[in-house]
Amino acid sequence: MRIESASANALPADLVAVAVPVFSGPEGPQPAAGVSVDLAGATVPTVLDPAWCKRQGFTGKVGQTVVFHAVGPATARMRTGDGTGTGDVSAARPDTVLVGVGEASALAGDAGLETLRRAAAASIRAIGDGGAAAFLLPDGIALPVARMAEAVALGAAMAGYRYETYRTGERPARLGRLVVATESPSEVIPAAEGVARGSRIADSVSLARDLVNQPPSSLTPWKFAELFVRRFRDVSQLTVEVWDAERIAAERLGGVLGVARGSSQPPRLVVVEYRPDRPMEVRGRVPHVALVGKGITFDSGGLSLKTASGMETMKTDMAGAAAVLCAVDALAALGAGLRVTAITPLTENMPGGEATKPGDVLTTRNGKTIEVLNTDAEGRLVLADALALAAEARPDAIVDLATLTGAAVVALGGDIAGLFGNDERLVAEVRAAGERAGEPSWPLPLPDDYRSHIDSEVADMKNVGRAGKAGSIAAAMLLREFVGAVPWAHLDIAGPARSDEQVRYLAKGGTGFGVRTLVELLTSVRFAESVVRDAGE
Ligand code: BES
Ligand code: MN
Ligand code: ZN
Repeated sequence: MRIESASANALPADLVAVAVPVFSGPEGPQPAAGVSVDLAGATVPTVLDPAWCKRQGFTGKVGQTVVFHAVGPATARMRTGDGTGTGDVSAARPDTVLVGVGEASALAGDAGLETLRRAAAASIRAIGDGGAAAFLLPDGIALPVARMAEAVALGAAMAGYRYETYRTGERPARLGRLVVATESPSEVIPAAEGVARGSRIADSVSLARDLVNQPPSSLTPWKFAELFVRRFRDVSQLTVEVWDAERIAAERLGGVLGVARGSSQPPRLVVVEYRPDRPMEVRGRVPHVALVGKGITFDSGGLSLKTASGMETMKTDMAGAAAVLCAVDALAALGAGLRVTAITPLTENMPGGEATKPGDVLTTRNGKTIEVLNTDAEGRLVLADALALAAEARPDAIVDLATLTGAAVVALGGDIAGLFGNDERLVAEVRAAGERAGEPSWPLPLPDDYRSHIDSEVADMKNVGRAGKAGSIAAAMLLREFVGAVPWAHLDIAGPARSDEQVRYLAKGGTGFGVRTLVELLTSVRFAESVVRDAGE
């Protein structure tokens, strides 16, 4: 689907549908947009008849839709035009799709943006296939037009996503083009900026979803690395380095090697550097952020083998790595002003004859030793090395994303990521960026008293905590040992990395969770200013 913007009185003539946002309210649902303009022959109501809405069960709550079909008999009685006349409506093309956006007062701030994403997604699903359709931006809302247009484009593009690589036979038809329409012609330029940004971010999110959805034996560590080598080869601001097993051994990444040992597929480690053409400066230097993503291309559990059902979705275990690299993909395209280093350890976790055994001790990049008591707690082993590498680069901050623990799903469910860190300001910035992006996370503590949960009898630490107790915290606690004094935030995305239903703008399968948070964070000027600290701060 192509997405563009236009003024509502200059819409293409060939629209199959126009989506009109509708507020809920005490007097019944009322249109929020574009009511006074000529919409290429569409019948767009200024006022909705409350009784009619009631019969339809349409209240205007977020994401609800009603479609007036343009052909065939009149489908509704409502007041039209300036709101004076009441009568049967026999609309000409295009169809009108009423889409609920909830209470007018709620269409503001971060929540308002998420409402628009959901409303755009609901509209796309209601419209179905066709050449082109329009979505009218609501009027008189306390949100910048560019941000609204971005949200609509992103919600629509994400809702249009399908993973079809392995489907034979005919592909279902889809909508070819969506026009985000503004009430006033002067808003078209900011709307176009928002649409461009939203569409570009959605492209990177789609790639992350594709990678998560790809079958694990077709996305091995080397193929994963190759894909980004090829994709980034011609991007002047990006350099990609791929470490093979030999280099990984030479660099003493004992955690990655320990996890990879049971697999016939050799591991890789991808390091991407983003150096902006137009860098921003904060207090005389360019902010530098390191991103780290867990890239287990398949997690069988290793010798601590998972159950059959526990393994079903474990191709998802590289979602952190995908999110990190796809965020860099978007940041380069958007021209972010910060310097970014992305590090993704990539390996399978398999139970081969050479596999690491419970009781084995691994020596990691920074020299610390980890006793492996459960080979299924492998994410923290590969992240230990990657975080240590990131810390060596002395960035202003490190943010890691990982499908790390089932316990995070128990605690927060499928929609919310667990958020940890060693720096309150950074954690607050990550949380706020996720909120703006529609990717919620919730902070969990790292109490020093729980450090004893990962005390080992033989090594510096063990890779499991206490059975049934704060499993996500124990994992994050181990990660903290590898970041030194660098401000660090960790998102445990085990829940939101995939969706088990088609809901909002998500499809079943990979969600690309984290891409939007990272793009929002790393294009935020406030974040850039907060992350560059003076000595002693
Ligand atoms: N990749 C899993 C975590 C996971 C579980 C992600 C479910 C998404 C859904 C991770 O490697 C793992 O297996 N963690 C173990 C740790 C335990 C052995 C200490 C877990 O959560 O059970
Ligand atoms: Mn595991
Ligand atoms: Zn895992």
